[in-house]
Amino acid sequence: MANIKFYKMGEMPLELHKVRVVQKLHLVPINRRLDAINEAGFNTFRLSTKDVFLDMLTDSGTNAMSDNQVAAMFQADDAYAGSQSFERLQKAVLDVLGKKYLLPVHQGRAAENVICHAFVKPGNVVPTNYHFTTTLAHVMERGGVIEELYHDRALVLHSDHPFKGNMDIDKLEACIQRHGVDKIPFVRMEASTNLIGGQPFSIRNLMDVRAVCDKYGIMLVLDASLLGENAFLVKQREDAWKENSMGDILRTMTGLADLVYFSARKLSSSRGGGICTNRRDIYAKMEALIPLFEGFLTYGGISVREIETMAVGLNETLDETMISQSPTFIKYMVEQLDAAGIPVITPPGVLGCHIDAGKFCEHIPQAEYPAGALAAALYLISGVRAMERGTISSIRDEEGNDVLADAELLRLAVPRRVFTLSQVNYVIDRLQWLWDNRELIGGLKFTYEPPVLRFFMGGLAPTSDWPEKLVSKFRKDFGDSL
Ligand code: F0G
Repeated sequence: MANIKFYKMGEMPLELHKVRVVQKLHLVPINRRLDAINEAGFNTFRLSTKDVFLDMLTDSGTNAMSDNQVAAMFQADDAYAGSQSFERLQKAVLDVLGKKYLLPVHQGRAAENVICHAFVKPGNVVPTNYHFTTTLAHVMERGGVIEELYHDRALVLHSDHPFKGNMDIDKLEACIQRHGVDKIPFVRMEASTNLIGGQPFSIRNLMDVRAVCDKYGIMLVLDASLLGENAFLVKQREDAWKENSMGDILRTMTGLADLVYFSARKLSSSRGGGICTNRRDIYAKMEALIPLFEGFLTYGGISVREIETMAVGLNETLDETMISQSPTFIKYMVEQLDAAGIPVITPPGVLGCHIDAGKFCEHIPQAEYPAGALAAALYLISGVRAMERGTISSIRDEEGNDVLADAELLRLAVPRRVFTLSQVNYVIDRLQWLWDNRELIGGLKFTYEPPVLRFFMGGLAPTSDWPEKLVSKFRKDFGDSL
């Protein structure tokens, strides 16, 4: 018995829900997977779910809904204007996020569009702890630039730093001094910083950022798309907040920001999004943009059924047993892979398990997109769909050269309450096989490249016949098994 590890409750990867509605999955044969990835231009975004076994592309709009969320859809109040469903959402936003003015939008990037239209002018600079793809695109679309003010240890991939999402306060001061207050429409903090591996910021850091914003009279904007998970990690990792409820932590964080926006596809496991504030002047600058871009002010391009699920989902973020499920499974995955010597981002973050593809595929030059190649290879040998978060997700500079990403990551998203532990174990098993055969993975090159957000629809091709060689080795080891 001495070697058996006993988990404390709350640390065990354990499903605290039961499955009541299921969807059949298809694990198609490896030959079909080879055709499918070719047809998809080696871009996992372009695969059909008919060919995907475990869909770990994203948690966006793919989290499991609760029975109460589904039930709430039946009481939706269909009305163009003045819907009671919207009133219920306003109440949930006030109760959970502590903000009284709410502008509904159809998803997170729509909030970014509205905010950037209202506040960003050509030549502006938006300081942020780290960019997100859609935020960067919207700031640039308005003629602005972003400046990433992460601290020195944020990009150390294998680390024990509990708050890699923190902003460097000295860099923020220097940035404001350098550009001048007039050039800075707002400071943006992103909860559970997505592109560096779902890494949180601490409340202490957010307070320090707030103090600098107050000193210069600059607005603080919080991207709350992954706020529930950030709050959960604050409770686990920040001593001063260990005894507080999720509600206290959430409202403390939102209370520090002048404007909070979110993708409800992530925050409340539904659809839609929102922008909220307690400042009438900030609200007034955006109000007219909602009917222009989204829809009337009481539905914002979202169906009323989804508005009901948003309201219930927001309240459910206060339930620690619900929020903890995905981070606990991610932690399990990270620990197992780490123990097997596979390079993963540590400490475990939220949203998904992130593999250091730069290290996994050390032999592939960054210009040949190691993270994209790893995503394609993993799909081939397992049917698991992951997402490239590296140079393919980056942009080109004015001369047309790739802006090489700070890190080449492969993200295996673990949406809330979707996968069982045996499915997670399957992914671990196949990743270990791929790790042993990693020298067979080769590079990729673009064949079709859209000008904006190229990672979504871009097409690529392998730089050699490595996919066929990988398939042969798989067949040699596993025979005709899938
Ligand atoms: N902000 C963050 C931190 C996000 O993670 C996302 C979306 C958005 C804004 C945009 O929201 O998709 O509703 O328009 N992240 C998804 C992902 C796409 O897969 O990580 P959206």
